[in-house]
Amino acid sequence: MTGSSPRPPISPAATSAPGPPFIQVPPCAAEGAPSPVRATGRTLRWGIVSTGSVAELVAHDLLMLEDAQLVGVSSRDAARAAGFAGRYGAPRSYGDSGGVPGHGHLFADPDVEVVYIATPHGQHYEVARAALEAGKHVLCEKSLTINAAESAELVQLARTRGLFLMEAVWTRFLPAIHRALAVIRSGELGEVAWLHADLGFPAAQDPRWRLWDPAAGGGALLDLAVYPLTWAVGILGFPQSAQAAGWLNHDGVDPQEAITLTYPGGRQAQLMASLVGSCPRNATVSCTGGWLRTGDPLHNPPLLEIHPVGAEDRVERFEPVGHNYAYELRETTRCIQEGLQQSPTMPWDHTLATMRLFDGLRAQLGLKYPNDHHH
Ligand SMILES: NC(=O)c1ccc[n+]([C@@H]2O[C@H](COP(=O)([O-])OP(=O)(O)OC[C@H]3O[C@@H](n4cnc5c(N)ncnc54)[C@H](OP(=O)(O)O)[C@@H]3O)[C@@H](O)[C@H]2O)c1
Repeated sequence: MTGSSPRPPISPAATSAPGPPFIQVPPCAAEGAPSPVRATGRTLRWGIVSTGSVAELVAHDLLMLEDAQLVGVSSRDAARAAGFAGRYGAPRSYGDSGGVPGHGHLFADPDVEVVYIATPHGQHYEVARAALEAGKHVLCEKSLTINAAESAELVQLARTRGLFLMEAVWTRFLPAIHRALAVIRSGELGEVAWLHADLGFPAAQDPRWRLWDPAAGGGALLDLAVYPLTWAVGILGFPQSAQAAGWLNHDGVDPQEAITLTYPGGRQAQLMASLVGSCPRNATVSCTGGWLRTGDPLHNPPLLEIHPVGAEDRVERFEPVGHNYAYELRETTRCIQEGLQQSPTMPWDHTLATMRLFDGLRAQLGLKYPNDHHH
């Protein structure tokens, strides 16, 4: 090899830990923590916006919490709202009526304190904004909005109204990720060299499905990339620079992209997000003294494989609690009970950094949404 400027070593000090804890351990994922369904304070009164697939899963887990009460559900359609409310024992349901959207009626309900928003991401901004303006605390699905400007507006609104706001990146609250980060930080595997994380599945080609609908914020980036990115951020933090390679389909939606993140000291992360191909959905952390791999899926890993060089391999397993959304619901509950406006585990500046990163990747891909008004 030639060249006058040799690459710097992976890090200056071979024995140092990889860096600060980039994702803080929430109390519910601390070692020895009680089950996340256990009450930690007064009961909160919840509303759920929309009746789609993730709303069903989260509603199931919400009912497990000892200090949660599901008060109402909204939908664009009154019958769907009533059906969902019936399935989960909510006394009230609201559909669009009188020129007011179903969620508008839900937000006018004085008994509702906190709302969980599970519409497509193209609609998160308007719905979350309406919730905050009505004085409700908000837990909103990922991606928080379709661009950073919209997220910044929501953060500012929550800040000035004294309300809790959090992007529901549930992986950040799971014991498995914090165990993985602790193993890496312990130095057992040496220093981190690079990380690889893939999330993909062949999504049925239905242009009406939100995943293929530009107005819903469809595409692989906003739907999938947040999970591989969560592992990159947890292990290495936010990157120095980011490059995306991918393509857009005839509707302008991104079916797939490869994202390369670069970090100081020569560290790298390679992320793959695909709505086209099936793959093992793992994150692998390569270190100077071994490697660690999550079980599949990386957003809710059932296990960790730990492979130290020169020592025995081991597997650590994790029992889910319900569908495992109870952890983010516990943290939301704790924060509101304690008067926190943001969770230290999913702080506003991480959501904003993520959305800015995505804005930059979108510019590289030429990816635009029709409702990108606040871009
Ligand atoms: N955390 C997770 O594990 C996870 C998993 C999947 C998805 N997600 C996120 O959750 C959100 C929803 O995903 P999903 O898979 O549940 O989608 P989905 O099954 O399509 O459900 C979305 C629901 O939103 C409502 N909706 C649809 N289009 C709308 C529009 N134009 N305006 C307002 N409401 C609309 C519909 O409910 P009504 O007909 O009742 O109004 C629909 O059922 C997305 O942001 C996604 O990224 C998270």
